[in-house]
Amino acid sequence: MCGIIGIASNKPVSINIINSLKKLEYRGYDSAGIATLKNNLINEKKCSGRVDELEKILFKSPSDGNIGIGHVRWATHGVPSILNAHPHSSENVSVVHNGIIENSDELKMELESKGLKFKSQTDTEVITLLITEALNNNEPLESVFKTLNKLKGSFALGIIFKDFSDIIIGARRGSPLAVGYSNNENYLGSDSYALKSMTNKISYLDDGELCVLTKNEVSFYDDKKNKINKKIHIVSDEENIADKGDYKNFMSKEIFEQPITAKKCVNEYIDSLKKDINIYNFPINPKDLKKIILIGCGTAYHSCLVAKYWLEELTNIDVEIDIASEFRYRNLKFNDKNLYIFISQSGETADTAAALDICKKNSVKTCAIVNVIESTIARNADWVLPIHAGPEIGVASTKAFLGQLIVLYILILKLSSIRNEINQTTYNQKIENLKKIPKFLKKTLDLETNIQILAKEFLDAKGTMFLGRGSSFPIALEGALKLKELSYLHAEGYPAGEMKHGPLALIEEGLPVIVIAPKDKYFEKTLSNMQEVIARGGKIVFITDNKKKSISENIRFGLRVPHIDNLLSPILLTIPLQLLAYHVALLKNCDIDKPRNLAKSVTVE
Ligand code: M6R
Repeated sequence: MCGIIGIASNKPVSINIINSLKKLEYRGYDSAGIATLKNNLINEKKCSGRVDELEKILFKSPSDGNIGIGHVRWATHGVPSILNAHPHSSENVSVVHNGIIENSDELKMELESKGLKFKSQTDTEVITLLITEALNNNEPLESVFKTLNKLKGSFALGIIFKDFSDIIIGARRGSPLAVGYSNNENYLGSDSYALKSMTNKISYLDDGELCVLTKNEVSFYDDKKNKINKKIHIVSDEENIADKGDYKNFMSKEIFEQPITAKKCVNEYIDSLKKDINIYNFPINPKDLKKIILIGCGTAYHSCLVAKYWLEELTNIDVEIDIASEFRYRNLKFNDKNLYIFISQSGETADTAAALDICKKNSVKTCAIVNVIESTIARNADWVLPIHAGPEIGVASTKAFLGQLIVLYILILKLSSIRNEINQTTYNQKIENLKKIPKFLKKTLDLETNIQILAKEFLDAKGTMFLGRGSSFPIALEGALKLKELSYLHAEGYPAGEMKHGPLALIEEGLPVIVIAPKDKYFEKTLSNMQEVIARGGKIVFITDNKKKSISENIRFGLRVPHIDNLLSPILLTIPLQLLAYHVALLKNCDIDKPRNLAKSVTVE
């Protein structure tokens, strides 16, 4: 999604803005731009495409100025183009914006009726023109306050002013915004990661807040224009390490990091001495819990789906799951004996954050399972369980999915133990099994060479299907999501038992169908569903942990992952699917870390 950078300094800022924009590239974008201020002139440079292109433009025609704002845009209103790229500037003001202004059409009509002309198709340009108009009689801060009162929707803004050459104003409603501090230099950024090379001292704006940055100081205001103080966080070194090392791209690094991710996560939550799980401070006494509602988007939603099966197996707690963009508009009956759990790698996903806000407004208890602990979702939830995966840069979520699954499993195990729904021996055994995950993940990753061969079979495929039952059904969904987002190949995930109700019509000679069949209570049923596919010409890729099942001649390709505790099998079965999506995308020369049209952090609705 879009990314913002602003720097107020005592030296030229354009190079640092470009370097920071490069740090924001992982979010996914289609155009970039920068505006600097020198001698009371706003100097705007923009390009369609990558930040490298913008850098070349600046190389040919440098932009001086000790103050400036930069942006990477992910198109919402208007096609990706130079004209629609941010910043959007008038003679007096330049604005970068993340989010969506929902009443932009209305505001545009009003401004046009006054004779004002628009250069772009964006919703952002109304902000530029409104601030410019308001500046006629007001100081910058007042003109921004006046403008914000007219806006509906979500935004994070960075604004510079031709006649106020030492300030940048930042504002937040809905979309995240951070402020960084250094000597003779202060920063604005969409996330702390973008500021990492310049500072580790960060404050986060909350909704409705504004900030005014100069090179020497930063002031914060609430939505009533009162000056406020903000906490300064020291961002940990770990959050600052994000380098792809010898790997071709971040995704492969993140896939292969998973044994370490699992180890760290398990170590954080398992007390090996006490042979127990270190989870305390439940916002609701687990014995009083009526229901757990799990909410997320995309891959995070798939981890909710897996957790549903675990909750049903290990506890008597009612469980409901929902996609955040649906949850937020449902007519829900909230209950203070329910725990609402929000899963998000970034902690900034707009729909998930909005769903959490609704829960807060209804005074129910919330838990955030996140990777980024300083994120909006983490800060707003009553209770936070970090997944400790470290920065995930590839747009495709891999190690974060693993972390989400491990934390969910550990949480459910702990609930089950506190509620006396599991006996001590089984509890201890399950804790021991958790510790085996890193070793088993390593073994599973050894399948890569086979999967490289398998990937070639997908090059001419028209599409593909992923089938599974029980907790392998969400893994089928996850496999299909990974394949489509990375390789642009049409892929569907289905519960294997559902095939006869429609999807079987898609099976034709040679269609690759991935069947995920661990040795669980569904195994034989899944095999029957697989035979129905084989009978219609489907080319089967069979993934199992069942040592006894021979890979028969009807199966085109077999992959065997190590056998672990049945409940934990989804964790291992995901790995071949990540590798498959990765290798198909690699063969198709796709942009693996930044798939087309997608963003890492989906900060608009
Ligand atoms: O940051 P989040 O976990 O909230 O993101 C949710 C989804 O946008 C994300 O999982 C998305 O589906 C991934 N690109 C999938 O690989």
